[in-house]
Parts: sequence; C-alpha cells; structure tokens
Amino acid sequence: MSEVILKSDAIHTFIGQHHILQGVSFEAKADAVTVLIGRNGAGKSSTLKTIMGLLPASKGKIVYKGEEIQDKKPYAIARMGIGFVPEHMGIFTDLTVEENMQVAMLKEDNETAERLDGTLEMFADLKKFWKAKAGTLSGGQKQMLAIARAIVNDTSLLLIDEPTKGLAPIIINALIEAINQIKKHSVVILVEQNFYMASSVGDDFYILDDGKVVQNGLMQELVQNEEMQSKYLGISKAAD
Ligand SMILES: Nc1ncnc2c1ncn2[C@@H]1O[C@H](COP(=O)(O)OP(=O)(O)O)[C@@H](O)[C@H]1O
Ligand SMILES: [Mg+2]
Repeated sequence: MSEVILKSDAIHTFIGQHHILQGVSFEAKADAVTVLIGRNGAGKSSTLKTIMGLLPASKGKIVYKGEEIQDKKPYAIARMGIGFVPEHMGIFTDLTVEENMQVAMLKEDNETAERLDGTLEMFADLKKFWKAKAGTLSGGQKQMLAIARAIVNDTSLLLIDEPTKGLAPIIINALIEAINQIKKHSVVILVEQNFYMASSVGDDFYILDDGKVVQNGLMQELVQNEEMQSKYLGISKAAD
C-alpha cells in the first residue's frame, strides 16, 4: 500500500462569517497526482490555502509526513517542503525572470543551484527570457515561471491551483509534460477545472462541491463516468 504524504481530516475553514470549507477530507498518496476538481466556488482554492496556512482551519487536522500542520504559519509550512503555485501565480511582473527566481529561492546552497539548472532545462523559455521583465512573458510562460519558483526549492509536495486557466491548448500540452516531469520527484496536488489536463496527469480525484468532498476515486473511473462528470463538473458530450 502506498504511503500517504498529506491527509486533510475534516477541515473546516471560515472566511469572515462564511463557512467555506465544511469538513474537507482527502488523502494525497506519495506515488500519485491527486486532482481536486469541482465547480467555481466549490472550495478548491480555499482548500489549498488552508493547507498552506494562508487561511486558518477552525476545526480538523492536516497531517503532512506524519506531522500536524494545521496551526503552522505559511513560511514554516513552506520550509517543511510544501510548494504552492497560487491561482494568480504570485509572480512579480515588474521584476525580471532572474529576479523572480532569486526572490523565490529559500536557500542559496548547491542543491538549489542544481535544481535551478534542471528547472531552466525543463522550461527553456525562462532561460531565453532570463533578463526580461516577467510582465512581458506570455500567459503560458508566466505559469511556467510560477511553477519554476516553487520547484526550485526542496519540495516534496507541490500544490498547484488551476495552472491552465486562460491558456491556449498547445500550452496546456506543455504543462502536462512539465507535471509529468515534476511528479517523478515531487508529489502533486493539482486543482484543475480543465478536464483534459486533469485526466491527463491525475491518478486520484476528489470532487468538491459546496465546501465538501462529494465523490472520490481513481481518475480512470471518473473518465468513464459521464454521469458524474455532468452532475458535478458541468461536462456534457454536447458541449465538447
Ligand atoms: N475573500 C473571500 N471573501 C468571501 N468569500 C470568499 C472569499 N474567497 C472565496 N470566497 C468564497 O468561498 C467559496 C469558495 O471559494 P474558492 O475556494 O475560491 O472556490 P474555487 O477555487 O473552488 O472556485 C466561494 O463561495 C467564494 O465565493
Ligand atoms: Mg479557485
């Protein structure tokens, strides 16, 4: 049986008076890409932010590598090896690609330098535009920079929030390839609305609806279950 690297156990999260997450439970296994899917407003981004300590969990546990992290601060969680690529990417458009990478690096050791080399090999455009302002990059290149900023650190778990949002299909294929590379050395939890992307990289899926997990299983099962797709994801044959 494969090891569970992160377990969210009945997490509740409020934003102001709003009870956003109402008992979210799921497990991310060490050898799998876990995809969180569900309609807009289902609570996917809030789930990732709660794991990162950016939103406080009012109840429940988040266990990472056997340790409870639900009361830890975001920087402490990052230092434990959890990388986060937020929905709005978190890059600095006024800084160059180089400066964006420098700001992101948590350490200045040889391992980080080696990871930077590997990352630039994977995302050749970043090397090409090394001295360019991040704001001048295309949408796909910005997303690659956002991912590069996370994986340059020693992450054993990477949380990525809707990387394909607003991107052209050809770029989505490049991102699929990147995630397939990343999953060789890091566990990935991916929030994704694009079902092509989700089903191309995902091993396990959890569907969120109204701040709760309503279905979960192997991605293969969801791919074959059109009824479930149309009920929770608004995917229908006619719309393809
Ligand atoms: N800053 C906020 N203030 C109030 N409500 C919010 C805020 N951020 C998110 N929400 C609400 O929380 C719910 C879940 O949002 P979110 O986690 O962003 O969903 P998803 O990522 O699945 O689209 C939505 O109903 C959204 O309107
Ligand atoms: Mg979201």
